[in-house]
Amino acid sequence: MTAIVPAADPHTGSRSGNRLPRVFLLGRPGHTGRMPLLDDSLGLAAQGYSWFPGRWRRAANPDILHTRLMGKRAVGLRGPGAVRFFYDEANVRRHGAIPEPVRGTLFGHGAVHTLDGIDHRNRKLMFLSVLKDPRQVGRLAERAGRAWDDAVPGWAARPEVVLFDETAQVITRAVCDWSGVPLAEADVPRTAADLTSLVDGFATAGPRHWRARRARGRLERWLTGLIEQARLDGDDSVLDQVARHTGTDGRLLPPRRAAVELLNIIRPTVAVSWFVTFAGHALHRWPWLRERLGGGDLEYAVAFAHELRRFYPFAPFVGGVAVRETTFGGERVPKGAMVLLDIYGQNHDERLWPDPYRFDPDRFLGAGPGRDELIPQGGGDPRTGHRCPGEDVTLTLLATLAIRLARLDYAVPEQDLSISLRRIPAQPRSRMLLRVSGSATAQPARVAEHAAPYR
Ligand code: HEM
Repeated sequence: MTAIVPAADPHTGSRSGNRLPRVFLLGRPGHTGRMPLLDDSLGLAAQGYSWFPGRWRRAANPDILHTRLMGKRAVGLRGPGAVRFFYDEANVRRHGAIPEPVRGTLFGHGAVHTLDGIDHRNRKLMFLSVLKDPRQVGRLAERAGRAWDDAVPGWAARPEVVLFDETAQVITRAVCDWSGVPLAEADVPRTAADLTSLVDGFATAGPRHWRARRARGRLERWLTGLIEQARLDGDDSVLDQVARHTGTDGRLLPPRRAAVELLNIIRPTVAVSWFVTFAGHALHRWPWLRERLGGGDLEYAVAFAHELRRFYPFAPFVGGVAVRETTFGGERVPKGAMVLLDIYGQNHDERLWPDPYRFDPDRFLGAGPGRDELIPQGGGDPRTGHRCPGEDVTLTLLATLAIRLARLDYAVPEQDLSISLRRIPAQPRSRMLLRVSGSATAQPARVAEHAAPYR
C-alpha cells in the first residue's frame, strides 16, 4: 500500500497535516468489497483534502477503497487505470451524481457537468470549439496580460494589495472583454467577488455557501439578459456562440441554461486566480525560482504552471455513479455506488511523482505529463468525457501571469501564509498580501503554442 500523507503539511511546513482525526474507524474492507459499517461524510467534511490520504493509508488496495458517504455506498479510485475506468461511460455516469449544493453554486442547474451520452457530447462541442482554438486562447491571454500591466501602477500607488483579489479583477476584465460581455469598470470589483464566491462557497454549508447562491442568482440573471439580447443582434463573440448553440433537439438552449454555460466559461477562467495566488506562495517559499521564471522562458513557465496545478490543492475529487455492477482492480464496484476519482491523491501519488511533496517545475520540462497522470482538471479525453475543456486557457493564463508576477517588484509583508488542507477550496489564509513598489516590464503573451495539457 502506498502512503501519501506527508510527515508534515507540505504546503505550510506545519505538522498539523499529519494529525488526521480518525472520526470513524471503518476497518479494512476485504477484496470482496464488504460493506463498511459507518458513514464517513463527517470525516470528509472535517478533513477536506486530508480525508482521502487517511483512507488510502488504511486501504487494502492502493487504487480502490470502499466507504459510505451521505448514506450511500462509495468507492474511491486513483491512478491512470482508474482514470480510464472512471471516464468510460459504460462504467460511470454523471446524471444525478452531483449534489444540489454543488449545482446551486459552482456549476449551475442543467450544466454540461451533469449530462451524459449524446447530450453531453453536443454541449461539450460548444465549449471545445471556443476553448481549444489556439487563437481564442491567445486573445484571452493577451487581454489578461494587458489588464495586469494596466493594473500594476495602481497597485504600486497603494500601501498593500491582496494578490488574489487583484488577479480576480484582472481576469474578470479580460474574460468579459474577450467573451463580448460588457462590463463597466465600476462593476469589476463586485463582479469579480461574485465570480470567485461561486467557487469559494460550493463545499461548505456556512455563510460562504449562501453568499455563493446569491451571487449565482445575480450573475445568471445578468447573463440571461445578455443571451437574449445576443439572439437579436449578436456578432461573432463567445457570448454569441453560446447564445446560438442548439441542443440535440435542434433548438436553442433556454436562455437561463445558456447563461449557466456562459458562466461555466467565465467563472472558471476567473478561478485561475487561485493558482496565480499559489504562484505567489511558491515564489515566496522557493525564491530562487523567481529569476528563472521571470526570464520569460515560455517552456519553463508552462512547466511551472503544471507543477502549480499538481502540487497545490484545488479540485479535491470528481464524482459519478456506477452504471452497472462491475469490478476495478479485482474489487467489486456495485451498481449505483458513488464513484470518486481522487484528484489530489493522484497528483501526490509517489508511484507517479517521485518525491511528490517537493515543488519542482523541472519534472515537467521536456516531455509533458501523460494524459491520465496529471489530473488537476480531470482526465481522459475532453472530447469524449468530462475532462475540463479549459486546460489550455488555464495553462496559458497561468504562464502569462506567473511570468509577470515573477518580474514584479514587490515585498511580502508579515502575514499568515498557511494553507489549511481542511478548507475546500484551499488558499493561503492571507490570500497573499504584496507591497508593490515597481511596475513589471510588459511580457509577450504568446504562450498558447507551448501550453499543451498533456503529451
Ligand atoms: C482554475 C483552473 C481549473 C480547474 C482546477 C478546473 C477543474 C475542472 C475539473 C476538476 C473538472 C471536472 C472534470 C470531470 O468532471 O471529470 C472541470 C470541468 C470543466 N471545466 Fe474546468 N477547471 C479549471 C479551469 C477551467 C476553465 C478556464 C474553463 C473554461 C474557460 C473550464 C471549464 C470547464 C467546463 C465547461 C467543465 C465541464 C466539462 C464537462 O463536464 O464535460 N475550466 N474543470
